[in-house]
Amino acid sequence: MTQYEHDYLNPDLSDEERAGDLLSLMTREEKIGQLMQLEAGENLRSDIVDRHVGSILHTSPEDLLQAAEYVKQTRLRIPLLVGDDLIHGYSFWPGATIFPTQLTMAATWNPELLEKAARVTAREAAPTGIHWTFSPVLCIARDLRWGRIDETFGEDPFLIGEYASAMVRGYQGKGLKDPTAILATAKHFAGYSETQGGRDASEADMTHRKLASWFLPPFERVAREGVATFMLGYQSIDGTPITLNKWLLNDVLRGEWGYQGTLITDWDNVGRTVWEQKVQPDYAHAAAAALNAGNDLVMTTPNFYTGAAEALEKGLVSESVLDAAVRRVLLLKFRFGLFENPRLPEPDAVSSVMGAEEHTAINLEIARRSVVLLKNDGALPLMKDEDTRTIAVLGPLADDAQTQLGDWAGGSGQAPWIKGQPREKIITVLDGLRSQVPDEWQVTYSRGADILNLVANPKGETFPDGQPRPKIASPAPVDAELLGAAVNNAESADVSVLVVGDHIELIGEGRSTATLNLFGAQNALIDAVAEVHEKTGKPFVIVMMASKPLVLPPSAEKASAILWVGNPGMQGGRAIAEIMTGAIEPSGRLPISFARHVGQQPVYYNQIRGQHGDRYADLTQEPAFVFGQGLSYTRVDYSGLQLDRSEYSVEQTLHARVTLHNEGSRPSRETVQVYVRDLVTSVSWVDKELKAYKQVDIAPGETKTVDLEVAVREFSIVNAEAQRVVEPGDFELLVGTSSRDEDLLVAPFAVSAAEKE
Ligand code: NOJ
Repeated sequence: MTQYEHDYLNPDLSDEERAGDLLSLMTREEKIGQLMQLEAGENLRSDIVDRHVGSILHTSPEDLLQAAEYVKQTRLRIPLLVGDDLIHGYSFWPGATIFPTQLTMAATWNPELLEKAARVTAREAAPTGIHWTFSPVLCIARDLRWGRIDETFGEDPFLIGEYASAMVRGYQGKGLKDPTAILATAKHFAGYSETQGGRDASEADMTHRKLASWFLPPFERVAREGVATFMLGYQSIDGTPITLNKWLLNDVLRGEWGYQGTLITDWDNVGRTVWEQKVQPDYAHAAAAALNAGNDLVMTTPNFYTGAAEALEKGLVSESVLDAAVRRVLLLKFRFGLFENPRLPEPDAVSSVMGAEEHTAINLEIARRSVVLLKNDGALPLMKDEDTRTIAVLGPLADDAQTQLGDWAGGSGQAPWIKGQPREKIITVLDGLRSQVPDEWQVTYSRGADILNLVANPKGETFPDGQPRPKIASPAPVDAELLGAAVNNAESADVSVLVVGDHIELIGEGRSTATLNLFGAQNALIDAVAEVHEKTGKPFVIVMMASKPLVLPPSAEKASAILWVGNPGMQGGRAIAEIMTGAIEPSGRLPISFARHVGQQPVYYNQIRGQHGDRYADLTQEPAFVFGQGLSYTRVDYSGLQLDRSEYSVEQTLHARVTLHNEGSRPSRETVQVYVRDLVTSVSWVDKELKAYKQVDIAPGETKTVDLEVAVREFSIVNAEAQRVVEPGDFELLVGTSSRDEDLLVAPFAVSAAEKE
């Protein structure tokens, strides 16, 4: 006779045995509820006690405590899985460490730093009772109009895989039973970012081959490395919503890749098949289709409860299919150790870890490494100019603490219980410059311009599912008084720093933009400061605090220096000021290309070869700034690219060597980028692809030889049969400072069909 009332409570049994026992005790309603994840809110008690939900999300600190109490009132006391969007820090916990956004962090080209950010997030979240973050995003940035570009790691599948893998390691710690681990999510599987016209969640125009070529590889990597969960994108591909795509879920993910983890739909994906995509007549059919396609957890589709019951009654889905899904959810809970340690909130532990000093230090380091210097005619760093004494800090984002944090942060609106992060935790550019410049310097400030005004949406305040409909953003007109004050400041300063960019209403889900132009009166502000510059010769620096690549007005060409800082997190202002004053060297590199004009879409560097001509009749196709681009305060020369052989077999590893020489008087952290070009391919393919990179510190005057290596099997393409193969023939290795041909040294080599000794 065991000491446990039921086998599932016995930790000495295997997870599979325990899940099997628990399943055998559950009623049909309990099983259906177990597959549901609902938003914690006013129905929290009935959702847990009456509807038996297996998981909740978007739970306030108070509800986190409350939910645990309600579980005690349930028959089987199955612990809840509590998930949330901890996207760049625990977004919705007051005082948590909020890092730069994913796209911003991707400019570090340093996955170890992102692993640290994820580790910090897990450490801060675990004692709050959160078990699961819906992060990282593995979508490839394509059309820059898409509102969620800031949530991606940029446009390169290889780099995305590197970062995603690092963040999953950071979140999941030493394994799922590690008490500081939280479950990670690879999302949004797959192809969600391949929008039409940048419109959010529109049907993705995608073949299986295109998916296999670029969209699936980062997901495959983390699936094989053990990411605990996958979130299914909103969109359809070739007529089938991802949630119902049996090929993707079963043949590819669970079949080919052998994935054992748990799937979760995105927000009401199952309901959307009824009311949005209109491919299912009602909730019973939708629930059956989702279960039959192999889904596990269903996010925020309250009607799934009755829909699934009806589907079972009508025989649209079998009990065994339901059981298989419930078993997978229970297995996750057993593997995560929730029955022994339900990971309930521990308020004391929270206060000692949340926003801790060492977390701030990591955040600062990441912010420093994320800043990308795009142009510098010598105006930066500021400190070297003895005559500089007064800095005019201008622009609507110079001192807007909450906007600086970007989407998925306290002020971004997804969580009703938090309106913003504590102001004192956030360092704006104005704060940063004030504290970084010598005491005898003067820092003046004026906002100078507004970005937008919000206009009510004539279609009403909510969508058919009751979710809020975003208001319409209208460009703010020039305010003569604001502009005049800024111009006065610019005229009486030695240098002007303009902090411009976008605002939360132009960022995020359902907030794609038709334009990429800087919004509102910010353009007039740049024009006016450029005029001051022309009249007086005083330099001006543009800090683009933009969630995604934006297009600056023509007057910005006169800027003495331009930085892209993304949404740089709580320590952003300090990092930016340190770089501008020269206390720190700039080292970020763009993870994404910047268009010159919205009509150039798409501008990602790894496009497929072949078109008539190479420009528009009225504009070049060249982006304004390219993938991989970024300056330091010195010039580093690359020369002498050499390979260890001229021909390789597919099994071999290519070793290359390049010499770097720092020609200037300041150090540099170089990101040596390695691309490959397959000269002739059996199907049309991209002209070059990133295959490796290495960061190297190089002192003033120093010459350094850098060794690089890439396995030849990485030089693959996806052929007409959608198989990944290396095709023998002639290739080029390209090594340099950005993806632009002019920045790359070239070394030819061949890949032979036969094996080489
Ligand atoms: C919808 C978003 O697409 C997804 O990224 C997020 O994790 C869920 N909502 C939950 O908030």
